[in-house]
Amino acid sequence: MTGSTRGRIVLAVESSCDETAAAVVVGAGDGAWVRSSVIASQVPIHARYGGVVPELASRSHLTAVRPVVEQALADAGVTLQGIDAVAVTAGPGLAGCLLVGLQAAKALAWARDLPIVPVDHIEAHVHAVFLRDEGGAGEDPPEHPYIALAVSGGHTSVYRVEAPGRSVVLGQTIDDAAGEAFDKVAKMMGLPYPGGAVIDRMARRGRAEAVELPRPMLGRGLDFSFSGLKTAARYWMERHPEAVQGESEAACDLAAGFQEAVVDVLVDKALAACRAEGVPRIVVAGGVACNSRLRERMVAEAGRVGVRAWIAPARYCTDNAAMVGGLAAALLERGAGVRGEARARLDIYTTRRPST
Ligand code: KG4
Ligand code: ZN
Repeated sequence: MTGSTRGRIVLAVESSCDETAAAVVVGAGDGAWVRSSVIASQVPIHARYGGVVPELASRSHLTAVRPVVEQALADAGVTLQGIDAVAVTAGPGLAGCLLVGLQAAKALAWARDLPIVPVDHIEAHVHAVFLRDEGGAGEDPPEHPYIALAVSGGHTSVYRVEAPGRSVVLGQTIDDAAGEAFDKVAKMMGLPYPGGAVIDRMARRGRAEAVELPRPMLGRGLDFSFSGLKTAARYWMERHPEAVQGESEAACDLAAGFQEAVVDVLVDKALAACRAEGVPRIVVAGGVACNSRLRERMVAEAGRVGVRAWIAPARYCTDNAAMVGGLAAALLERGAGVRGEARARLDIYTTRRPST
């Protein structure tokens, strides 16, 4: 594979929520070539509960982590002997889930006396646009600084990214995350978990203009709020009971109307941040960045105001370990990596990266 034979070879582990993932990447400047990316999804385990059950998630990581790591090594055609560093998501995420990945990373590093690079999950999502692979990802990554909109099941924030792993929060949600709002509205509509992708698909058949919903905090600063929008969607459903009947016309209209409201707010705030910071580069990251309407509108509207947009391919937007390895490779270039005895003291964090 072009460019993949040079640079540090990083084995990465991700277990912050409901996907057990491992990847092998090869560092290349701020970017990295993806040699393998394996994801064991727990969606079937949690689907019947309509959301992630933390203890079931931790236990499932415990049994999946070793086969997933072995598969990632095998797919990349390397053994542990060929690895230069181990990367792992240290937070934020579910505590019991993070502990499994970190302990696996410690064991792997211990076995070969390798450095460990603990990585912030959200920073890894954002850095995914620097990943390169034979599928054409990451051809022409952004220069620093850039503005990043991170939209996932647990987070909705706007950052100014100065360098890999060095960013300032410009705004964030004061209640629900965008992905959480998608999933909760989908659940109210009786749709399967996780609902974001289902709403995206149904919205293509719906008329957004048929459903009037608020655009919370639009034009007011860089913070977000989605809980009022979720409640407004519930009231709409109460007035239109046919919207809770599978993929009925009213359900598709609601999906389109709700999605449009979320996208309006996300696009507006991301571009407002670019304007306020005087930075004409926007990166959109996290699971909600898979949303087809958000991708289409962000690229079009950014272009209209002279801002260039980068959005990773869907396979690197939802949780994966390649993004963790990619950020770790860039951090290793800058001297990161915990070695020797200090590795044993590494701990997880569940809400935000401790300041260094
Ligand atoms: O980044 P991610 O895989 O996990 C977290 O770190 O949370 O994001 C998962 C979230 C879920 O809320 C899911 O519904 C949402 O991303 N999502 C979508 C789409 N695909 C995934 N939301 C809207 N449209 C989509 N196409
Ligand atoms: Zn995530």
